[in-house]
Amino acid sequence: MRKTISLAGIAFLSATTVSAQERATNPDARANATLRAMSQEEKIRMLHGPMPSMLPPGKRLPGVAIGAGYVEGTQRLRVPNLVMTDASLGVSNLNDLRPGDVATALPSGLSLASTWNPDIARQGGAMIGGEARAKGFNVMLVGGVNLVRDPRGGRNFEYLGEDPLLAGTMVGSQISGVQSNRIIATIKHFALNDQETGRNIASVEMDEAAMRESDLLAFQIGIEKGDPASVMCAYNRVGGVFACENPFLLNDVLRRDWGYKGFVMSDWGAVHSSEAITKGLDQQNGENLDAKPYFSTLLVEALAGGRVPQVAVDTAVRRILRATYTTGVADHPLAPGQAIDYEANGAVALKAAEEGIVLLRNEGGVLPLAQTARSIVVIGGTADLGVLSGGGSSHVRPVGGFKKLGRAGRGAAITWVKRGYGGTPPLDGIRRAFPSAAVTYLDGKDVPAAAAAAKAAQVAIVIGEKFASEADDNVDISLGQGQDALIEAVSAANPKTVVVLQVGNPVAMPWRDKVPAILAAWYPGQRGGDAIAHVLSGKVNPSGHLPVTFPASEAQLPNPKLPGADAQLADKETRAVYGLAAGLKPFNIVYPEGSDVGYRWFDRKGLKPLFPFGHGLSYTSFRYSDLKVTGKGKLKVRFTVTNVGAMPGPDVPQVCVVRPGKAKRLIGWAKPMLAPGAAREVSIVADPRVLADFDAKTRRWVVRAGTYRIEVSHSATETALKADTQLSRQTLAP
Ligand code: GLC
Repeated sequence: MRKTISLAGIAFLSATTVSAQERATNPDARANATLRAMSQEEKIRMLHGPMPSMLPPGKRLPGVAIGAGYVEGTQRLRVPNLVMTDASLGVSNLNDLRPGDVATALPSGLSLASTWNPDIARQGGAMIGGEARAKGFNVMLVGGVNLVRDPRGGRNFEYLGEDPLLAGTMVGSQISGVQSNRIIATIKHFALNDQETGRNIASVEMDEAAMRESDLLAFQIGIEKGDPASVMCAYNRVGGVFACENPFLLNDVLRRDWGYKGFVMSDWGAVHSSEAITKGLDQQNGENLDAKPYFSTLLVEALAGGRVPQVAVDTAVRRILRATYTTGVADHPLAPGQAIDYEANGAVALKAAEEGIVLLRNEGGVLPLAQTARSIVVIGGTADLGVLSGGGSSHVRPVGGFKKLGRAGRGAAITWVKRGYGGTPPLDGIRRAFPSAAVTYLDGKDVPAAAAAAKAAQVAIVIGEKFASEADDNVDISLGQGQDALIEAVSAANPKTVVVLQVGNPVAMPWRDKVPAILAAWYPGQRGGDAIAHVLSGKVNPSGHLPVTFPASEAQLPNPKLPGADAQLADKETRAVYGLAAGLKPFNIVYPEGSDVGYRWFDRKGLKPLFPFGHGLSYTSFRYSDLKVTGKGKLKVRFTVTNVGAMPGPDVPQVCVVRPGKAKRLIGWAKPMLAPGAAREVSIVADPRVLADFDAKTRRWVVRAGTYRIEVSHSATETALKADTQLSRQTLAP
């Protein structure tokens, strides 16, 4: 019997006796009821969608915002269209799809991770999610949490560093912020898509324990903390099987072990068969990038031919429907064109950028610069136009637009990657922060002129920059473009030289010991120029701490040469992003470090980095004392942090565990804000999985019995307190 139930304004056809109340609160019941009411055609329609920008205007859904993708719903059953936008740094507008549309640009993922502050992640997520919904999107393709395994990785700027606990915690908060707007967020790219070279043909070969203790743990923590309604599977193969049809990843790990109830969407152009729907994939997105319509006409054929059972279709549709109910997408229709308070949103971006700046070096207390500074010369980095941002699908056209924008893909096939400058220019920010100083600018191309200007000024500030983008990895970790020589010349001409790095990755600094003050500002986003100036002037006490290791050279890396780097393609420049089309042979990617990513590798090998994971100076200083460790049950660590300097500020004490013969691992941190002289006790409770080994045979986490060294540190190489404790053997479900 069919009847229409009107429930809290929600009217939908019911073909079942599920109670209205139950359906309102029980997403599974609602999904089953709607599924039963859907025709086969309506079901199939939910399982695939195009990248609108690749459709002729006449083929696009009328009234649907043009973004990264969409999937048509079923209006008669109140099943909404899914209208999708990128990405983690704001509502992207790749190649000006929505002519002139701008959005608030958050600082890069590495900047966000440098804050070590989940509240900043949540606030930023809530802000960009609000802009997405206001612009007509109810799916935001955020949550990139691939680990930074190689500092040449083109998308590392989007991601959240090298440690699974830090990355997973930050991405979980970001996702919960985005979904607070009643939109669907993703977590991506599942899994081990840790470099761009070879991303759609290479196979990552890694034993299960290493995966579980690193990349997979970051996803597991992010899913537990953020509850993303969707997971985006990655382009690459894992163990020889494409991630988007990999039963180990999508059925065994994600659903059987982690109990994940959301849906899995493909990356754009990452689907290779209709049978993928029986291996855990639920939706083909960006279908016009795939070789075939695997989840539309070919799926109907596979059903008819018995190669795909109907239950696989019903399971996929049910998961997608459930996601629209759990997030509120189904019950809160889009109303595009809502007003956006870009001023308020810019303030969110400013706060994030300020907290993400890392003071790497400050010899002789050069910083903060005194207000009495009468002449400041700013050199390089297009500092007069804006701040640099990373290229690719996450690229946000900032409020105020780009002041400079140009093609940047190193290969002929990568036409959609752009290098852009926007947001508040550092030059303007510095002029506002030092109103009584004469602040001049040179682009730095004429090195002798830059050195002469530096000599004539009281202070010289060099903006060093390095572009990074999706679809391409950097060739090396040098700043490049003659910037090292520029910095050498300027610092030789003026002992009060400050280098501000706008980079998307760790970089080499051959001039490090000749420059008294160095800031890592990353890609600082909409209000980046102001954030840089506020730290330089002392209006903000820097509190960023590195989420990645800065190596002294590529020779220290597990892979001194990036895997696949020599795999040149038809046009000799394009990296293997389009490997299949460009005839590249599949190759294997092996990461010798296994789960010892980043600082863990440096610890295991006894290597001294240029700047260690966790490093970050302040304009004040902090002391740790009274360490107490108890190992009964869960490992608990308590200690006192005291601000022994003259400025208020937050600190980020890090707690690591060192097991006999094993690399150290971060098990927790705190971010107390302390006035001068103030002290506070902080406590950390360790997640046992972080200090456990994963036993793939028994599929259990194993905390081995024995002595564990606990370290309270300012960074991975600067330990302040140590204590040993005994832990008894413990095993946990995967
Ligand atoms: C891209 C990216 C993914 C993005 C998607 C849609 O290739 O890998 O992060 O969300 O396609 O643009």
